[in-house]
Parts: sequence; structure tokens; C-alpha cells
Amino acid sequence: MTHVHFAGRAYINKRKTPHILKLIGVLLLAQFLFGCDVLAQPTQSEGPATFETMRIQETHQDYTIDIAFPLTNNSKIDHTLSQFISQRLIKFKDDLLETSQTEARSGDNQYILNARIAYQSENVFAIRVSESAGIGKKEALEIVHTFNFNRLTGEDIALDNLFPHQENYLKVISELCYQRLLEDTRLLGVDAALLKDGTLPFTQNFSSFLFEDDTITLIFNSGQVAPAAFGAISIHIPLEDLTQQMTFNPKAFEAGYISVYPIFPVLLEGVAPSESAYFNTAKTSSVKAGDKLIALTFDDGPHPKYTPQVLKILENHQIRATFFMIGKRARAFPDIVKSLHDAGHTIGNHTWSHPQLTKLDKQQIMAQIDMTQRTIDRITGVNPKIVRVPYGRFNAEIHQWINMPLIQWSVDPEDWKSRDAQKIAGHVIAHAKPGGIVLLHDIQSATVEALPSIIEQLSLQGYTFVTVEELFELNKKAVYYQQELKK
Ligand code: NI
Repeated sequence: MTHVHFAGRAYINKRKTPHILKLIGVLLLAQFLFGCDVLAQPTQSEGPATFETMRIQETHQDYTIDIAFPLTNNSKIDHTLSQFISQRLIKFKDDLLETSQTEARSGDNQYILNARIAYQSENVFAIRVSESAGIGKKEALEIVHTFNFNRLTGEDIALDNLFPHQENYLKVISELCYQRLLEDTRLLGVDAALLKDGTLPFTQNFSSFLFEDDTITLIFNSGQVAPAAFGAISIHIPLEDLTQQMTFNPKAFEAGYISVYPIFPVLLEGVAPSESAYFNTAKTSSVKAGDKLIALTFDDGPHPKYTPQVLKILENHQIRATFFMIGKRARAFPDIVKSLHDAGHTIGNHTWSHPQLTKLDKQQIMAQIDMTQRTIDRITGVNPKIVRVPYGRFNAEIHQWINMPLIQWSVDPEDWKSRDAQKIAGHVIAHAKPGGIVLLHDIQSATVEALPSIIEQLSLQGYTFVTVEELFELNKKAVYYQQELKK
């Protein structure tokens, strides 16, 4: 069998069922039924293969859903897509919860997602996902997401995998795109500053692209390079134009290629994801009012040796903490990031390479934050919601640019300086106050050694350990040192 053809359409159309679980169930069922075809490859002479479309239409009390996506018969690709869709749905529901009752009236809330195969060849499977999440009367803008699967391995290939180890690749693409958009007749009259802003060399600006063997189509979302009314703007760049200036990695879409910078964690094929893995962004807090709360925070990791040790200690005591990670370390140790996230700890952004932000310009600062956001999002599927600036140094302008809650601390044992477990534990225990934030570093042995006695002593004093997100109702314009004491 060389050709995959499915004519049927699957519909799931029931009220008030956990549709994600159902969706996964159907995917697994489809894999079970058609499992023999997983390795089948369409041949070029027969034209591109067609695939079954999964359609989910549901009407709930306060929203409707209309989702369509292809079942590619590659379990890894199908899994990545379903995981992505479930995360986007969770986000929609979170946004809905945050909207006031009067704004979010039934019938006005509509989630539409349409994923289609934009391009396929022997080795490439490029998928364009168009999403529109309408809440209340606000007009819903289309958001485009893309996937570029290596058809043979099922891996989602990121742009940096096409030009690996070339620090300048974003600059080259940025300049090319800016020039193309300047000359684009569709964008006549659009402010050049807007074009410039939307094409600055940040990974975030080029996260939507479709690889089509000899062309790369870059997609700029509504509002990115032109006013939102222009909608999403696509431009096609011949691969030739890029390879003149840098080396393209031709292996990215070949058999056996493993991403240098994986977008999603590698998942074991055939293992059904658990419900909690899907819904762990919505963990309920066991914190009660009046509790003596304290937040342990760990900076500068992940560290390949010490962070797993910290994780183990936290697990033994069944407590959760907050980790402010350095982006490039997160990229180097994605498995550790993933295991922290899966265990329910909060992950915050501690910049890409730990510079003092007050010495950088806006563009450099945004790159430090954005690259870290994107890396952690790739690994965990969740964007960090909090930032800790290196050395605690920032000013009002920097905070405005970052536009996220800044988390400082109230207890600092200077663990990096003393490197003495007894001193570290003694300082924390002596200075702990309800509502406090303890600054620690998960990159050295003394901190790991001090941790059990910190937890045991503070527990004896009646403290409950929480994450930063549990300690505060976070506001992106605020800076947090400790919980305000109730008067
Ligand atoms: Ni730090």
C-alpha cells in the first residue's frame, strides 16, 4: 500500500463532554484502525495524498467550538497537532473566565480553528492553522500558526533548525523581509516604522512560516507589520535568496533528523497523554485564606545536576516552588524544564543570558525576554507569566517594555556568595515572614544541601509553601517584593 486515502469525515458533536479527551480518544482509535498505514508514503507521480479531516463542532452553554484539522496518520504529527489545539482551547476558556459576565454573553463566544495542509512533498508536511477566538462583541482577529513537520520523523522543524548555529540568521531574514514589505504594493502607505518593528530580528517575529522545499513563506499576523485591518500578510522568499547569505541545513527534512532546538518535547509514540497533562495549566490551589504563606524561588537554572536534586527534595515534601530560568540554559536542558513544569512548579523568565538590563537598549532587552518566552513555551506549551530581572535591576521604562509582573524578593541569604549550607538555611529561617519571597539559586550544592532544613524548619513554624502565582493576584504593571500585610 503506497497511498493513503480517506473519504469519510468524523464528527464529534455532543454537549458537555470533555472534548479534548474525546479528541485524543478518536486520534488513538484512528491510529489503531489505520496503524498499518503509518509508514506509507505517497509517491510523487500520484500527486499529493489526501487525508481525512477531523471536525469537532460543539455548542456549550456559553460558547461554541468549530475545529477542523487533518489526521495525517503519523502518530507523532497527530499528537503534536492535538496537543497544540487542546492548549489553544484551554487558553480560550481561560480568557473566557477572565471576561466579565456581561461582556461574555452566550452566543457571542466562538472558537474557530482550521488546520490545513498548506504544502506536502516527500519529506515535508507544512500545516497552516488559522484560529479565531471571539469573546463577547469584540471582533475576533485571525491568528495564524504554522507547523513544518519532517514527514519521516514527525518532528516539527523550527526556523533555527533550517539555519542552525548561525547567530546571524534572524538578521538576514529580518533585513530581507523588511525590504520586501517596503516594496509590497499591498502595504502602500503603511508606516515604515511599523514594518521595521514587526520584522526586528526576534524569533517571535518569524515564528509563522511554511517550508515549501524551494520557498519559505513567512506569515506576519494581523497588526504585526501593518494595522490589524490588513489581516495576516504572507510573503514568499525563494530559498536561493537566503542561501546566498547563509548555509541552509538540507538534512532538516530528511529521515532521522532530530531538531537541534526542538519545538515540542519528544513524546513517546503510542503513549496516551493523561488528563492531568492536558489540564495542568489549570491546577487548583489548596491554599486557604489566613495561611502563613511563603514562596521559594530558584534562579539561574536549569542546572543539569542541581535542579533535578531540588526537584526531588520538593517532591519529597510535596511542595511547589517557582523557577526563574535563563533562556539559553532552558534550551540546553529541555527535559529538566519539562519535568519541573509537569510537577506543577511555576516557571518564570530570567532573561536569555542574564545581562544587567539597565545597560541594554530596548531592542536588546526585548530579545532577552522574547527568546526566553519562546523557548520555555516550546518546551512546556506555556508562556511564562512572570519575570525576574537579573540582579533585580530595572527602571520604569524597562518594566513598561517587558509588560509583565516583575518578581523581586524579601529574603536573600546570598547563597551564591557564602556557599555554606548552614549559613544559607540559618538566614532564611531567621528572616522568613508570612507572604515573603525567598531568593535561592538552583545551581550549586550548598543551596541543595540547605533546602531540606529550610523546608522542615519553616513547616514546623506553620508555613505553607506556594508558588509566586499562588501568593499574588498578579498584575503586569506591578513589582512584587512580598505579599502586602493585611491591615
Ligand atoms: Ni540571576
